[in-house]
Parts: sequence; C-alpha cells; structure tokens
Amino acid sequence: MATLWQVGGGEGLDPAVDRFLSSLAVDARLVFEDIECSQAHAIMLGEQGIIPHADASALVDELAKIRKDLESGALAVDQSAEDVHSFLEAELTRRLGDIGKSIHAGRSRNDQVAAAFKLHVRNACRQTRARVLDAVSACLDVAERNIETLMPGYTHLQRAQPVTLAHHVLAWCAALERDADRFADAATRANESPLGAGALAGSGLSVDRERTAELIGFSRVSMNTMDAVADRDAAIEYAASAATLMMHLSRACEDIVLWASSEYSFVKISPRASTGSSIMPQKRNPDPAELIRGKAGRVFGNLQALLVMEKGLPYAYNRDLQEDKALFFEIEETMNGALEAFKVLVQSIEPDAGRMRAALDEGYLEATDVAEFLVKAGVPFRTAYQAAKLLVQRCVDEQKSLRAITQADLAVHEAFEKAGASAAELAEYLEPQACVARRMQTGGPAPLRTREQIDRLRAWLHLATR
Ligand code: ARG
Repeated sequence: MATLWQVGGGEGLDPAVDRFLSSLAVDARLVFEDIECSQAHAIMLGEQGIIPHADASALVDELAKIRKDLESGALAVDQSAEDVHSFLEAELTRRLGDIGKSIHAGRSRNDQVAAAFKLHVRNACRQTRARVLDAVSACLDVAERNIETLMPGYTHLQRAQPVTLAHHVLAWCAALERDADRFADAATRANESPLGAGALAGSGLSVDRERTAELIGFSRVSMNTMDAVADRDAAIEYAASAATLMMHLSRACEDIVLWASSEYSFVKISPRASTGSSIMPQKRNPDPAELIRGKAGRVFGNLQALLVMEKGLPYAYNRDLQEDKALFFEIEETMNGALEAFKVLVQSIEPDAGRMRAALDEGYLEATDVAEFLVKAGVPFRTAYQAAKLLVQRCVDEQKSLRAITQADLAVHEAFEKAGASAAELAEYLEPQACVARRMQTGGPAPLRTREQIDRLRAWLHLATR
C-alpha cells in the first residue's frame, strides 16, 4: 500500500526500511478507537463548514460500516499499510473516493495517534481497575470466612505474633485498594483530548477541539498542542500503577507459595489453580502464583522501557514514540491476565485451620504479651521486656510453651512478683485467641476490627463498582 505522504514517482522507501517502520502489526488494535476519533473529527469538519455536511455524513456512515465489516470479519486490516491510521484513510478513499481523501483536513497522524491511544489507555485504566475490584472481592470472601482463624504473623519470615488469616488477607486488600485508586486517578488524568493539536501547532482551519473532545467523550482538551502530541504520560501512569500492582500481587503470591509448601501446609490450592508434575505424581504445584510473581518483572521492564524511550526526546513528536504501544499492550495484557488468575487463585485457597493454629504452639509468639501483661501492672516496658525474655529463655530450656508456666518459673525476674502475677492468670492471658482479641486498634487483628475492615471494604467496593 502506498504511504499517505508519497507523491509522484521517484525513489520510494526501501522495503526493509518500510517493514521496519511499520507499526500496523501492533497498532491495528487501536482501529476501533481510531474509528471513534475519526467519526468525531468528521462531524466537527462538517459542523465547522470545513467540508460539506453531506461529505461529513458519508464519512461517519462509512466509518460505521468499516467497523461492522471489521467486527464481522468481512474486512481485515491491510497488513501492508504503514499504520492503522494510513489503513483507515486508504479504506475510506477506496470506498468513497475524493470524500475519503477529505478526512485528514485539520489533523495529523500525530494528534490522531495520541487521541486514539489516550482513549485506549483511559479505558484500560477503568477496565484494569474493575479487575482489581474483583480480586479484592475474592479476598474479602476468604477474610469473611476466617475472621477467627488463628495463624502466626511473621517478620523476617520468623514467627512473630498471632494474627488471623482474615487479617493477613486484609493486608493484601489494603494494598489493592490503593492500586485501584491509582488506576482511577490515572483514568481521570488521561481523560483529555489531544485531537486538533495537529502535527504540533494546531491548524489554520477552524478546527473545534472542544467539540471533538465532547463527541469522543473526553472530559476536556489538553491545554498545549505541542504537549498534546509529545505526551505519553497516560501510558506511563498506567504502567507505573501496573508495576506497583504486580509488585503487590507478587508478594501475596509468595505468601501463598509458602503457605502451600509442605513445610507450612497452611493451605491447599484446589485443582482449579494448581498444577501437577509430569514426573512426580504426588505434586500439586502453585504455578499460577509463581507465574504472577514471574511476570512482575516483565511489567517493571516495560515501564522502564517506556521511560527510557521518552527520555530526552526533543519536542514535539518523534517516531521513537511509536514504541509506546507495543510496550503498553504487553503490560495491559499481562496485568489483566495476572489479575484474573489471582482472583481464581484466591478463590482456590483451602485453609487448614488446625495446621495454622498448631504453628502458634512453637516460637513463643506471645512473648510481647508477657511484657505487656507486666506493663499493665505498672512495670516500665524495658524492665518488662527483660523479664519476658528471661521467662521465654526458661521455657526454651525446659522445652515447654509459655502457656505451661508454673509459679516457680516466674521467679526468673522480680517484676513478676512485684506485679503480683499469678502463673495461671498469665497463662490465660497468653492464649493466642486472647492475644488477638486484645489487639483492638483501628486496623488491628481483633475479630471486631476485622469485621469493620471487611464492612468498610465491601461498602467501598459497592460504591466503586457502580
Ligand atoms: N505510527 C505512528 C505512531 O505510532 C503514527 C504517527 C506517525 N507520525 C509521523 N509523523 N510519522 O507513532
């Protein structure tokens, strides 16, 4: 197919360069967005008297037919075109002759591609956000069923203090809530039309940018025509939000991988989201969790590539910018696939409450509570800490749990006697269930607080999915 810009005979593009420059294999995906923006442009050209009304109507109708033909498969995007924008103009011209040739008045491929791409990115922000909300909903279902399921909480991957499975899963939700907000925010900023910016300096024709923005459904126009064609922030913001989200998913997935290991055995993953081994018949591997973790790198890499692609580019448009789409689409596809798999993975978790509870019997997770027990009786915290440490040491030596202490054990430090501590009372205070129930701070693991967190997130989901 001839390029839009070649006129007359003379030497043409070398076929290798032509192939190298072509973006069609990638940007054909923008064909529907480009049709939408082109229809708005044609309507505006007619309204402004830049082309006859009848021609504008013919263009709008023919673009609608092209859309139908593409959807039905009656028409395929011509792979020899330089890009999707060239293809559409050529197709209009093939069908409408001179009328087709009139559509490019007052626009350039620079504002055309910026508009179609921005529209795509804005919608992608909304769609990915919806998938994040679905994932949160799946997590809340698990939390809901496990408000009282005791398990160890870890720091440095060492058992630290008792929490509940609900509390742990709600930690993932807190991060995912921020992620959803980031995509909402990015969608708001992406909601501005570059169309009418032309190549870089607008147009000498009476192009009405506000009108095309309104017709496309952008909430405003971008405020500088050079910025409009040079800017790819929307893609970068989506990519940065996706990178952060993939980082969060990779951490939650790592938790699931650990929990599913035979060393932990806190959960089983149902066959919907685990795979077998081709050689070891006993295996149930958490492959989806691992692959989400693995794909995070691809998203981080593409964000980096987008930033480097744009770094130092002179204003305004440069062909380097064409690289934006391949990088973006790969992020978008990876992100949406990972979110869908994550949702199913979370739904497939089968917790083993007995194993989690048993893990609380080793590791002296109630040691902080020993100290706090003394603080409540007026002992300064550092002294209470020392007393608790000595008590833990004694239990380690005697190979018993903190909840098996006797009155004689409390002789390890005078603070216990000063506080009037009874071993029976302390042992009761150290029941994991009691430890958790006391942690009543906002956001804490106490079942009452967990209930509140779940209710708040459900209310947020309800509003956010409207
Ligand atoms: N395929 C190009 C891109 O994706 C469209 C814009 C081409 N503009 C130009 N001045 N060569 O960026």
